[in-house]
Amino acid sequence: MDSVLPLSDLPDSRLRGQRALVSVDYNVPLNSEGEVSDASRITATLPTLRRLVAAGARVVLVSHMGRPDGSPDPSLSLGPVVPILREELGVEVGFATERPGSPELSQRIESLEDGEVVLLENIRFQPGETENDAELAESLGGLGDLFVGEAFGAAHRAQSSNVGAARIIRERGGLAVAGTLMETELRFLSDALEHPSRPFVAVMGGAKISGKIELIDAILPRVDRLLVGGAMANTFFRALGLETGASLVEVDRIDLAQELMDRAGDKLLLPVDVVVATEIDASASTRSVDRSEVEESDRIADIGPRTRSIFSRVLEDARTVLWNGPMGVFEMTPFAEGTMQVAKSIAEANDHGALTIVGGGDSAAAVADARVLDRMSHVSTGGGASLDLLSGKSLPGVDALSPAAEVDGSVDEGVESHGTQGDR
Ligand code: 3PG
Repeated sequence: MDSVLPLSDLPDSRLRGQRALVSVDYNVPLNSEGEVSDASRITATLPTLRRLVAAGARVVLVSHMGRPDGSPDPSLSLGPVVPILREELGVEVGFATERPGSPELSQRIESLEDGEVVLLENIRFQPGETENDAELAESLGGLGDLFVGEAFGAAHRAQSSNVGAARIIRERGGLAVAGTLMETELRFLSDALEHPSRPFVAVMGGAKISGKIELIDAILPRVDRLLVGGAMANTFFRALGLETGASLVEVDRIDLAQELMDRAGDKLLLPVDVVVATEIDASASTRSVDRSEVEESDRIADIGPRTRSIFSRVLEDARTVLWNGPMGVFEMTPFAEGTMQVAKSIAEANDHGALTIVGGGDSAAAVADARVLDRMSHVSTGGGASLDLLSGKSLPGVDALSPAAEVDGSVDEGVESHGTQGDR
């Protein structure tokens, strides 16, 4: 993948008085009171925002939340994000509900003082955002002299607010740079895994079987051990000719699972036992059984106790760990033990000096549940984006940031473009 220019390479003199259009991913969960229930995607952008504010940039934040249909939906307003930003940044943060492209919004942005911040209302309230509409990109691009790509979680989408606006700003001679979060994500999810310390152990799980099988395909040649759990293990069980009862199985991937097993040989460790129940609910009564003892009415919902200790022993010796996907239905207590044990074992490996990387989405939530967030080297803010990056796909929101020098000859003013990503 191409290189990107990091914001950290720009001197303050390149930021002061500049309108910085910052693409962020504030697609955060809200509770029943409409308050942000997990602010980690917001707090992850604070180093970039603090830098811009301190340097005297005029900061315009753009994000989506949820999947509105291109028209306003009050339940998906970004309003609840504003008080968090105010408190964390210690500066006034405006909230702009005016339409991009309207004179009202342009005037509002023009009147920003150095170091001031404004958050635009959910950009998916505008038609065309998800299609990378050229007119919307033009309106957004017109709000910035500089584009800062910080929306790692949305980098697998080509939208007007990331790819389109970055292009417009660069066409007009401005820079498109990677914010600190974007840079960190790329460093851990791409560069760090290029030359890992060994043993390199990957733990894969989750229900998105097809997507994860692609990830396994990409990661297999690079790991020493691959531990597989979650619903995706069921497809491997079927390839082994085992009964999976009423469990989720991706039937059209059974051949691929067989082929992966042949290719992986000893590297691949599948669960040897599982936790089953006839219903997946929080009060279900469960049994731990050998993987060969699953009955027709059973649903496999977690890895079993013998598997937990085998996986823990492998993780104990690891020097690099990549985790993507839970081992079971961890949101429900009867099926959480496998995922919690994996989280704790990875935290212990981290305590002993291993590099530990968590690929976002459900696994990030599991790490928080297990209270080991601060014992991981990196927990990604991206779900689909981290999966795509780890699967070796290029991300449009990252490609839009590189290479700056191709469009803008002005980067030679003491600023060099350099790679945060290796070729994959
Ligand atoms: C995410 O939460 O994965 C990103 O914000 C992308 O959201 P989307 O899947 O609705 O495009």
